[in-house]
Amino acid sequence: MFSISEIKSLTKAVVLQGTLKGRFKRITINSKEVCPGDLFIAIKGGRFDGHRFISEAIKKGAVACLVSSKGVKAPKRAVLFYVPDTEKALGFIARGYRQRFDIPVIAITGSAGKTTTKDMVASVLSARYSVLSNLGSQNNQIGVPLTLLKLTKKIDVAVIEMGTNQPGDIKWLTSIALPDMSILTNIGASHLAKLKSKPAVFREKLNLVKGLAAKGTVIFNRDDPFLVKIPLLVKGRSFISYGVKSRAKFQARHIILQANRSLQFSVDNKKYVLSSPVQANVYNALSAIICGRLFSISFNNIYKKIKKASIPKGRQQIKKVGRIWLIDDTYNANPVSFRSALNTLSDFKACGRRILVCSDMKELGASSHLWHKTIGRDIGKSNIDYVLAWGKAAKHIVSAARPKKDKGQVYHFEKRFELHKKVRSLCRDHDVILVKGSHSMQMGKTVDFILKHFKK
Ligand SMILES: Nc1ncnc2c1ncn2[C@@H]1O[C@H](COP(=O)(O)OP(=O)(O)O)[C@@H](O)[C@H]1O
Ligand SMILES: [Mg+2]
Repeated sequence: MFSISEIKSLTKAVVLQGTLKGRFKRITINSKEVCPGDLFIAIKGGRFDGHRFISEAIKKGAVACLVSSKGVKAPKRAVLFYVPDTEKALGFIARGYRQRFDIPVIAITGSAGKTTTKDMVASVLSARYSVLSNLGSQNNQIGVPLTLLKLTKKIDVAVIEMGTNQPGDIKWLTSIALPDMSILTNIGASHLAKLKSKPAVFREKLNLVKGLAAKGTVIFNRDDPFLVKIPLLVKGRSFISYGVKSRAKFQARHIILQANRSLQFSVDNKKYVLSSPVQANVYNALSAIICGRLFSISFNNIYKKIKKASIPKGRQQIKKVGRIWLIDDTYNANPVSFRSALNTLSDFKACGRRILVCSDMKELGASSHLWHKTIGRDIGKSNIDYVLAWGKAAKHIVSAARPKKDKGQVYHFEKRFELHKKVRSLCRDHDVILVKGSHSMQMGKTVDFILKHFKK
């Protein structure tokens, strides 16, 4: 993969011990996964500090370790490098590696829909090409470089999801992945703890467009009031818009929710089918259709891949549990995805009642209560029959929804087990239950509870 001296020059590392001879095949940051001949990069994470596993890595055969602490002790047989920031060094190495491959890289960012879009784009392109894409949601300063380090000569195109939770993240990831194309899904109140406001989220995501290769292609959602401004703000790129409401170059029209809970829609007078009733997925599919067209994939193949597209786990996945319908949206929550979930629940065709089981949206900073209230007001105006909420911030959802609903329709619980008790006593055959909350609220436990109690 690299010679040890190449690593030194890419990262500007200082050699603490050993000689710079030899090469290694792989880079790993997890000591458990080290194989003989690897370079081990010690990264300080939230839960683990890789520096504590140096001797384990060397025991397993690591030939060199990159560290950000000068006091590390290691057997003399291994090369030890020092850099002030190993996470940054991983990025520099990944950039150096990516530069060896003359292939198109498509980068995806936005407040919601990145993973679903990434999977749909990768799936459509796989009809004709060998595609590399992030595993799951590995979209941060560690996940993106590790994904790029999986490039091989066999890969024709890379589809890279990029996330951000602080200013500068997207600029950095763009400088590593060096994309030729970008997809921007939407701008909303995401990661406001550090990004502060929606305009700041937009400025952050715009760095993907600014950092694109010259004459790069920008695929953007024209229905989004921020993204629609992109062509006015950045020059020297080609722009392809998509949307549902506005007159975009690729506009989905005649969207029909079919009896079997699939969606039919047409683009450029061609019909497509998505086996999901979630309208937001039409936007994600539009990006995939555009990429398919740009990469000369036949209509038949695009059609088949879109129809078969599987929705990633916990992103408004629909399941029949006994005689009730469950919409599992427990992967995450922010105001953009919450609105999308409310639309799905409101439009859902079921003979029973619509029940929302929800918890907090995290990382919304100082305006968190206002965002919860906004969502609560939307629920108040909707046709949702019951709201069962749990969590501190979710109290604001309840207080804003309650005035518009009847007595006995809106509940807040202090404890998860109380929420579960109510779910059990309230839900009956043919109801549809949507479960949503931020990842850290672990609403998957509530999904497990529902699966256990309603499976017949
Ligand atoms: N285009 C979209 N617009 C709004 N919400 C979406 C969109 N696509 C997916 N979602 C919802 O956003 C949440 C996260 O989806 P995901 O694809 O994992 O996005 P991300 O990778 O940006 O977090 C889920 O609740 C999902 O249903
Ligand atoms: Mg994601």
